[in-house]
Amino acid sequence: MADERLISSSMLADDEFSEYKLRPHLLSEYIGQSEVKEHMRIYIDAAVQRGEPLDHTLLYGPPGLGKTTLAAIIANEMSSNLRTTSGPAISHTGDLAALLTKLAPGDVLFIDEIHRLSPAIEEVLYPAMEDYKLDIIIGKGPAAKSIRIDLPPFTLVGATTRMGLLTSPLRDRFGIKEQLQFYLPEDLVQIIVRSAGIIGVEIETDGAYEIARRSRGTPRIANRLLRRIRDYTQIKGDGIIDLDTARAGLNMLSVDSLGLDMTDRKILSAMIFKFGGRPVGVDTLAAATNEDASTIEDVYEPYLLQLGFIARTPRGRVLLEQGYKHMGCDAPNNDE
Ligand code: ADE
Repeated sequence: MADERLISSSMLADDEFSEYKLRPHLLSEYIGQSEVKEHMRIYIDAAVQRGEPLDHTLLYGPPGLGKTTLAAIIANEMSSNLRTTSGPAISHTGDLAALLTKLAPGDVLFIDEIHRLSPAIEEVLYPAMEDYKLDIIIGKGPAAKSIRIDLPPFTLVGATTRMGLLTSPLRDRFGIKEQLQFYLPEDLVQIIVRSAGIIGVEIETDGAYEIARRSRGTPRIANRLLRRIRDYTQIKGDGIIDLDTARAGLNMLSVDSLGLDMTDRKILSAMIFKFGGRPVGVDTLAAATNEDASTIEDVYEPYLLQLGFIARTPRGRVLLEQGYKHMGCDAPNNDE
């Protein structure tokens, strides 16, 4: 049975529920990602004007940047229902068939982690995306029969943190492809101030900036840190988030001046002390730090790359001068 993950507040932990509450519902409320917003505004308005569903849309980029939020906004702006599932939740073709046949005309089907669909499931998805047809096989062996079912016109919104892992036939079937970027601190400040208003905590601008600077360009992290600093000021402060409480709370969480946490520092220090900054493969790095290789690739590496602390080379990941500096070490001089 497919996991449709219908959201109900009673099923969610406190943090998950407030993450859900903090999500904007309209494109005009969505902060940052100006290019993506500009494109989506045009595509959505044009589709609405023609009375057609939006073209299938692929959203890609590091986790926590708002892919799920955008999918919900798309459904809302198209005045249609959002059905949510994920690549790993669809293990049988029947799971996908059940989801597709339940769609109403114009619905948005959101598949998170779409790079994790199996090849057999992808095969079912192709005619569904292209012609709104579902091919199902009934029976087994020589008596097996294939039947074709008409599906209502719908929009598939796929999300992935790993565009490179998507097969090209699947990638080619998306008419709209948008890449989400890390947010600027100014955008995160606006998100944090908006979220503080929703969760009901008073925040000063420099407190919001401090959280923004240490949120690795990621709204999900900014909102999580905001909730923890709210706890901190409630118990240790005066209930207001100013620069000092933000700093003290973030230090307590071991989040450093650039937003790096213990795991980032563990990765950087393994690269310095175990591998001497020389190229190292992600699996070796994962074993040396006791982390999962795909977590390093999806979650940690993108921000370290963006900071210019590490680089990817054909022989593996190398540590760059800025990475050494941040860890308080001198980069080895390769000319010697
Ligand atoms: N909450 C999380 N992401 C957001 C965004 N991009 N805009 C507004 N609020 C958000």
